[in-house]
Amino acid sequence: MVEASAPSNIALIKYMGKIVGSGNQPTNASLSYSLDHWRTIVQLESIAGPEDRWAPLERTGYAAPVLSEKGREKFLQHFQFLKETFNAEGAFRIRSANNFPSDCGLASSASSFAALTWAAAEQFQARQSVNELSVLSRKGSGSSCRSFFTPWAIWEKDGAEAPQGLGFQKLLHAAVIVSGAVKEVSSSEAHVRVTTSPNFVGRTDRAEGRLRHLLACLKEENWVGAHEAVWEEFRDMHDLFETSVPPFRYRTTDSKNVVDACHHIWKFKKDGPLVTMDAGPNVHLLYRPEQMELAEKMVRHFREKHVVVTSWGGFR
Ligand code: DP6
Repeated sequence: MVEASAPSNIALIKYMGKIVGSGNQPTNASLSYSLDHWRTIVQLESIAGPEDRWAPLERTGYAAPVLSEKGREKFLQHFQFLKETFNAEGAFRIRSANNFPSDCGLASSASSFAALTWAAAEQFQARQSVNELSVLSRKGSGSSCRSFFTPWAIWEKDGAEAPQGLGFQKLLHAAVIVSGAVKEVSSSEAHVRVTTSPNFVGRTDRAEGRLRHLLACLKEENWVGAHEAVWEEFRDMHDLFETSVPPFRYRTTDSKNVVDACHHIWKFKKDGPLVTMDAGPNVHLLYRPEQMELAEKMVRHFREKHVVVTSWGGFR
């Protein structure tokens, strides 16, 4: 029996749009911050019988991910692909669990697919390098290729790598969970649907320009500049969703209120957290360690209405 774990990550420049049939080749490069405190554990156990099976893993502080039929299928298919790649045979029970709330629209595919790829590499004693494993993981779920590098990961072509010379290596993370509803449009589907938006024209260039600017800000430790790039980027992605044909949306009134509160803080303090949203209604905040007091204050405020998960104090 082998066990592996991998972190989730939050994209600040988003992977949104992919070349269909390419094994998740993105239409633009992305940059993420690794959420080392949010992890998936995957355990593999050899079983008799013709096929692989998924089962929940029991572990204190961890809960089984809520997998749709399609989600489970995608996970098992990736394992099949890994077995073929590593020339391995036999059937396995794949157990997995997350230590972050995965029943409320928070993406667990990045950590799940990265952990599955690590576990398979260990089980089958694969000789691939970390970069090669990242490429293999990308074929299962794109964003998982960034979960092999910490704290920053850049994914420009095939697989991700650790960008050199970036500041802000240690950040505090808070996720404001405004809704626990299961997403109607999965991120995989969103990748296809955004290409119908008139805004998709020029998206690659906009994301590329923002990525270069953000990298420069992170190198120079320019927090205000980083915030502006990250802010524009998540709004650009959500505008793509909402102008697709037909349109779809993840932003709710509650997400808007949380984002507006952050905007307010920035306006008056000329400082605040990096603010971003994935393909869901929840809002992610990243703070510099010296902003702890502000972070605590904002978390207390958001907890009046929402569950807030933080990297420094569990979740309520
Ligand atoms: C909005 O990696 O979930 O979180 O490759 O189809 O599995 P697939 O998509 P996925 O897309 C993630 C989209 C995102 C932005 C990001 O993480 O970059």
